[in-house]
Amino acid sequence: MSSLEFPDGGFCPTINSFSVVDLARRYGTPTYVYDAAVIRRQVERLRQFEVIRYAQKANSNLAVLDLLRRLGGVVDAVSAGELLRARAAGYALASEPPEVVYTADIFDREALELVVKEGTHVNCGSPDMLDQYGERCPGQGVTLRINPGFGHGHSQKTNTGGPQSKHGIWHTQLEECVQRGQKWGLRVTGLHMHIGSGTDFEHLSQVCEAMVQAARRIGPSIHSISAGGGLPTPYRNSDQPLDIARYHQLWDGARRQLESEWGHPVRLELEPGRYPVAEAGYLITEIRAVKRMGDNLFYLVDAGFNNLARPILYGAYHPLAVALANPQTQQATQPVIVGGPLCESGDIFTQTDGGTVVHRQLPAANVGDYLVIGCAGAYGFVMGSNYNSKPLAAEVLLDRGSDHLVRPRQGSASLFASESIPG
Ligand code: LLP
Repeated sequence: MSSLEFPDGGFCPTINSFSVVDLARRYGTPTYVYDAAVIRRQVERLRQFEVIRYAQKANSNLAVLDLLRRLGGVVDAVSAGELLRARAAGYALASEPPEVVYTADIFDREALELVVKEGTHVNCGSPDMLDQYGERCPGQGVTLRINPGFGHGHSQKTNTGGPQSKHGIWHTQLEECVQRGQKWGLRVTGLHMHIGSGTDFEHLSQVCEAMVQAARRIGPSIHSISAGGGLPTPYRNSDQPLDIARYHQLWDGARRQLESEWGHPVRLELEPGRYPVAEAGYLITEIRAVKRMGDNLFYLVDAGFNNLARPILYGAYHPLAVALANPQTQQATQPVIVGGPLCESGDIFTQTDGGTVVHRQLPAANVGDYLVIGCAGAYGFVMGSNYNSKPLAAEVLLDRGSDHLVRPRQGSASLFASESIPG
């Protein structure tokens, strides 16, 4: 049975009982809509894990961060901007155990200043980070992000392990890094491994064994292990759900093994980004042109890869559905290519990895009808840009029967408000 709930290839008249047409008319298009009920459901599915550290890079709107916090989550931050967002959403930048962890492969100067000033916990993904941090904050506890020598992702671009990846500390350099930290009195209190995004059970579970071996090499100074993120969510009808209970069982077993060897508690963290939010997000667009190119029929909508970059970047598949402005006009489906407004031929939502344009079976629709892009809550808005001087989309949160505008559409004048002409 399929685990995808979005009506791919069909009609999407409502999102959690809100009319798509009403939302589009009220907030304009393109607009991201997030359903808080789906985020709650996804977090509940992960409850077995002691610590759910949300990787906010997937969707860092303050309303989403606040919701995750109220659900008992903590966060990961990869930049000064994400640290400041976390604080603005109510997370403490310094606490034990940490509500916010800075995980990256470098400190840019702004991020280093901020973690030093705020006392934020640091998870180092490069040996150089140990010196840069140790010099400023001697004697602190740090965790290490290890590259176990293998990785896997939904695309080569989201595989974060193995020798071709820039991420983490290479597994054979573990002892060397502990010593490098000791020069500054740094204690390695935990290990972290994240092998990629959108991976599968088999690869995710391999990490568990690599973690136990690495932790044993460091010994009982370790008080936390992080399984990273990478949990897949369905985008297609054929996608099967991840067996969370089995995944937890493996990691819990590893943690208990280490606890029994060392005689002290070891905190088990999970760091999902996509899982809590992907299925909660919809991008509502308006169809602005319906045209034929030879045998091909195109729907051109008012959102492009400036709003949702996953198809052009990875050939990512997003389910599509139509909301008719006038539901009486319902008709049969037809093969369609869906593109956006940008002046670039790759601005196509229906493409495969490498840029091959493909058709989708979609209901017949006209200019003024709406096209809803599903499973767009993760790595959607956050990867948006102002290419072609297009403003960033609006964001709306649906929560307990109310709709909240949680980020208005960017005004076009703000696109160049801080630019100047010399002289
Ligand atoms: N932890 C670390 C250290 C990460 O680098 C990432 C994702 C995560 C956790 C969360 O991974 P998730 O649970 O979301 O798979 N833009 C791509 C995904 C890039 C992921 C980057 N790092 C996409 O749209 O698929």
